[in-house]
Amino acid sequence: MKSIKIGVCGVGNVGGAVLESLVNSPDILERNGGVKIDVISVGARKGKSAVPFDLNVSKNLMDVAHNDEIDVFVELIGGCQLAKELVETAMMNGKNIVTANKALIATHGDDLFNMAKQYGVQIGFEASVAGGTPVIKALREGLVANKVLWFAGILNGTTNFILSKMSEDKSSFEAALLEAQNLGLAESDPTMDIDGTDAAQKASILSALAFNTPYDFKAVSYGGIESITSDDIEYAEQLGYKIKHIAYGSIDENEANVSAYPTFVPNDQLLSQVGKQMNALEINCEGLGSTVYYGPGAGPKPTASAVIADLVDIANGGWHENGSLGEKNTLSSKSYQKFSRYFNINVKNEAGAIAKVSSLFAEEKISIEALIQNESKANNKLFVPVVIISGPLSDREVTQMTNKLESSEETSSTVKQYRIHNAL
Ligand code: HSE
Repeated sequence: MKSIKIGVCGVGNVGGAVLESLVNSPDILERNGGVKIDVISVGARKGKSAVPFDLNVSKNLMDVAHNDEIDVFVELIGGCQLAKELVETAMMNGKNIVTANKALIATHGDDLFNMAKQYGVQIGFEASVAGGTPVIKALREGLVANKVLWFAGILNGTTNFILSKMSEDKSSFEAALLEAQNLGLAESDPTMDIDGTDAAQKASILSALAFNTPYDFKAVSYGGIESITSDDIEYAEQLGYKIKHIAYGSIDENEANVSAYPTFVPNDQLLSQVGKQMNALEINCEGLGSTVYYGPGAGPKPTASAVIADLVDIANGGWHENGSLGEKNTLSSKSYQKFSRYFNINVKNEAGAIAKVSSLFAEEKISIEALIQNESKANNKLFVPVVIISGPLSDREVTQMTNKLESSEETSSTVKQYRIHNAL
């Protein structure tokens, strides 16, 4: 049986789950993967008290990266700076790498993969996107014969959990976030989940694999779910949608575009049915059409499952080099894709105001597909909420329309708008 020796840095939620699985259930890996994995060294800044297993623990994480005995260095500390130093040191010492760190790959992926090539080692990063759902394996192995045209996915478990709870249980945003944190789904700073950063980082990694673009997270345009209210959720329900946070990637000629925003998904689309902390990714390929991957995208056990799958792959010889031939395509923040839009506008509560607002859409030659005007819930009733579903608009057109609405005398100054999903 093949055997590898590993060092693990980081013993938080994910590190703990990886160690538990390796220490308590080695028989599963030996049977399913034909591999024996020995944990030689654990790096934990708090020392032995933080590791509830009989293993060698070092408070100095660099000791693990320098350990001559190990074949693979497993980085589970998160963050960028120290994680990068540790991974680089381990590679310079000839160690393969397994990491769950999407920020590290999305920000420094090109440098790290170049360095891995130079030192003849491999980097496994399955756990960096969609947790326990093997989407990276799908892209670099199962779909290797195909040209990817586009992908659309729910890539953040925490926001999907929050939006699902707000919709199904009528939970408040705050209560749902607290529950997600207690389940170990959220990042240590949940801002990264809520504001869309986490999903954007994951989408940039998918783009690198799907479209052969650089690992360039800064070229992704994205937004978060912080402005979604229970009123938006109710309007979505009334109109036949669920609100989800969706990342899109597509390529046109040699230029890929990746973006991630809260999006209204029609109830008859598969992505609308993805509840709890689940992730789902639809990958559309020329000739093949769409394949869809669904499963847990956050939490200690799903993430540990992906880390261990990478270890088994490395023990079994690793992966072919992805996108090593030819020029890289570029990643641009400019989106050419048009989406119908949900507008939520506070309109003056006076005769003719709605007619004037709808004429602003007509002036821009934008069709109104649906319009709801409920009575105001506010005490003063100076404004009434008006919801409009428009025809398809580009990012540029939607910005122009929003500015026009916000500067109109018939509206209050804040207009909300969200995308409506289209399957490209
Ligand atoms: N915080 C992430 C999420 C999990 O909620 O999806 C790790 O990527």
